[in-house]
Amino acid sequence: MHLAVVIPTYNEAENLPGLLSALFSLPLHLSVLVIDDNSPDGTGELAESLTSRYPGLHVLHRSQKQGLGTAYLEGFRHVLEWGAEAIGQMDADFSHDPQALIAMAKELEQCDLVLGSRYVPGGAVDERWAFWRKSLSRFGNFYARTILGLPLRDVTTGYRLWRSQTLQGMPLERVRSNGYVFQVEMAYLAYRLGYRIREVPIYFLDRQGGQSKMSFRIQLEAALRVWQVKRAYRDLRPHS
Ligand code: GDD
Ligand code: MN
Repeated sequence: MHLAVVIPTYNEAENLPGLLSALFSLPLHLSVLVIDDNSPDGTGELAESLTSRYPGLHVLHRSQKQGLGTAYLEGFRHVLEWGAEAIGQMDADFSHDPQALIAMAKELEQCDLVLGSRYVPGGAVDERWAFWRKSLSRFGNFYARTILGLPLRDVTTGYRLWRSQTLQGMPLERVRSNGYVFQVEMAYLAYRLGYRIREVPIYFLDRQGGQSKMSFRIQLEAALRVWQVKRAYRDLRPHS
């Protein structure tokens, strides 16, 4: 199975070389698209310079920081043209162990979307993750799951593997979330359309270098946007 992994980056120069090395050592047929928002720390140029070492690596540059949601949407549109069977999403900071892709790819044989899940048995988050981040993640998940009625444990996870056909079957032009609530909106869309979603336990490591881009604005967008998402997709029914 050819797998295309989309990795949005903003100031991830400390993490990216190690991550790419780990990804391209996996026993998987892998391509990677890095989508960088003109990171001041030079992540974009660094990624570009690594394309000679890794033929499977491609880099998309955007002129300024435009948010995680639009980065993924642009990335998806791009890699869907590569003809890969599966499309992955992950953070650039080692919170998502590249090794887990193997189990996720296996699980995808049985379903349409696999979530790398911190909140199913066997999954966990790093003890060193700040207390407020742990609480926010727990609460954010509870909030979104409850309001949207999602029968999933980790609806905000950023570690995912989609069948390309699943993404092709979704009305991506309707997705409006820009911050991390993008993850919730995408999971909800897939659920409303009747796609089979499975969760594979992951251990979420605290980021290795650099800083999280979580902000108050992103949290506020998430709190409000969940209600808009619920209303916006009332018309959707499962694909038969
Ligand atoms: N291109 C681009 N533009 N990349 C971005 C932007 C942006 O505006 N904002 C963040 N990123 C990149 C980061 O560089 C990283 O690779 C990834 O997107 C996730 O951002 P982090 O800053 O590492 O997120 P986090 O670790 O705090 O949050 C994680 O948990 C959230 C809640 O569970 C992520 O996995 C989120 O996706 C997840 O929703
Ligand atoms: Mn992260």
